[in-house]
Amino acid sequence: MTIEKGSHPPDQRTPAEGKFPANFLWGVATSAYQIEGATQEDGRGPSIWDTYSRIPGKVLGGESGDVACDHYHRWASDLDLVAGLNLNAYRFSVAWPRIMPEGTGRVNAAGLDFYERLVDGALERGLQPHVTLYHWDLPQALQDRGGWPHPDMPEWFTDYALAVYGRLGNRVASYATFNEPWCTAELGYHVGRHAPGVQDLRASLLASYQIQLAHGSVIRALRAENTRAELGTVLNLYPVDAASGRAEDLHAAQLIDEKLNRWYLDPIFRGRFPAGAVADYAEAMPEIDLQALASAQQPLDFLGVNYYFRQWVSEGGASRAGPPSPDAERTAMGWEVYPEGLHRLLTDLHREYQAPKYLITENGAAFDDQWNNGEVHDEARTRYLQGHLQQLHRAIQDGVPVGGYFAWSLMDNYEWAYGYSKRFGIVHVDYGTQQRTLKDSAKWYRDFVRRQRP
Ligand code: NOJ
Repeated sequence: MTIEKGSHPPDQRTPAEGKFPANFLWGVATSAYQIEGATQEDGRGPSIWDTYSRIPGKVLGGESGDVACDHYHRWASDLDLVAGLNLNAYRFSVAWPRIMPEGTGRVNAAGLDFYERLVDGALERGLQPHVTLYHWDLPQALQDRGGWPHPDMPEWFTDYALAVYGRLGNRVASYATFNEPWCTAELGYHVGRHAPGVQDLRASLLASYQIQLAHGSVIRALRAENTRAELGTVLNLYPVDAASGRAEDLHAAQLIDEKLNRWYLDPIFRGRFPAGAVADYAEAMPEIDLQALASAQQPLDFLGVNYYFRQWVSEGGASRAGPPSPDAERTAMGWEVYPEGLHRLLTDLHREYQAPKYLITENGAAFDDQWNNGEVHDEARTRYLQGHLQQLHRAIQDGVPVGGYFAWSLMDNYEWAYGYSKRFGIVHVDYGTQQRTLKDSAKWYRDFVRRQRP
C-alpha cells in the first residue's frame, strides 16, 4: 500500500446515497467458534480455542465458546433473521473439528450434515452461502502434533477442504481458504494472544509459510474438481500512515506495511514474501523453499478484504487507535473510525495487485450498546456502516471491482480474547435467554439494502 505522510484529510463530501451495481451481494458474516456453541455435540472434536479459553487469564472473564449464541441449535431462525434483513448472501465458517474430530482421517458425517442443512437453509431463503474453511478453530489433535508450523499441515488442510467440498460442492457460492492468516500466525504463534498461545517468532513465520502452501494446495485441489464455486481467501488489510515525514517513521511504516499487508498479499499474487520484511526477520527466518512458496500463487476469483481501521506508525511501532487526536472517533475496541480508509485501501490494492474481484468480507464496529425495552439505539454503528458504504461506493465509482459487502457481524458473539464483552452485532444477543433483538443499525441496513435492490 502507499504509505501516507501524516494524517490523510477527511473526505468532506457527503454524496447522496449512491446506487451499487445491480447484482451486488449484500450480506452479514459470522464464524463457527464465535456463534455455534454445542462444542461437545454430534461428534465434534476439541479445538485449540476450547483449550486456550480454559487457560486462566487468557480470555476476559475466562469465557469460552461452549454456548456462544447457540447457533448450532438456532441456525434456522438465525437464517430467517438474515433473510428478514433483505440480504442475499451469508458468510460463515466451517469448524474443522466438527468434520474431522481428530484433525485427519475419519470424517464425522454429523458435522457435514449440520453445514449441509445450513447451506440448503440459506439457499431456500434466497441467501448465497459463502464459506470460510479456516476461521481459527484448529482441531486440538493437530496442535498436539505441532499445529500450523508442521510441514504436513498443507496436506491435512487439503484433505479436510476436500471433505467439505465433497458434501457441499457447488451449492456454495464461494470458498475462502483462510480468514485473516496474519492473526493465526502472529497472534497465535508469536504474540500468543490467540490460541494456541505460542510465543515464538520463528514458529510464527513457519506457520505463515505453511499457511501459504496450504492455501495454494487447496485452491489447486478445488480447481482440479472443476468447481463452479468461486475461490479466494480473506485477509485483514490496513492503510498505513507514518506519524510524520521523518525518515525513521516512514521506514517503520514501510516495514509494518510489509509485515501486515504484503506478507500475505505478495505470496498469493506474486509467489514470494516481500524482501524488506524478509531482511528484517533475518535472524528468526526459517529455511523456506522458494519454489514451494511460488505455488501459493494460484489464480483467484476474489480477494476477501476485512477492513476495520488504519495503522498509525511511528518509529516505536504501530497503533490501532489512529492519530493521537483527541477528537478522533473510536469504537469500544479503541479503534479509530476511519471510513476513508476503505476507499484508500481498495484503490491502493487494486493498483498494486489487480485481483479480478474484491469482496468486503468484514467491516463493522463494537460499541457499548444499551438494550432498552426491546430497542438498541446504536447510532454510532449506523453511522459507521453508512460512512463505510459511502466510501465503498466511491471506490466502485473509481473502478475497483467490488462484488459484495458483508457486515461484521450478524449478531453479538464471542470476540476471542475479549470473550462476550465486545458487541459487534447488528443484532443484539441476550446471552442469558438467547433472545435476538434487531438494533437500529440492522433496521437501517435492512432499509438501505431494500432501497438498493431492484
Ligand atoms: C476479524 C475476525 O475475522 C473476526 O473473527 C473478529 O470477530 C472481527 N475481526 C472483530 O474483531
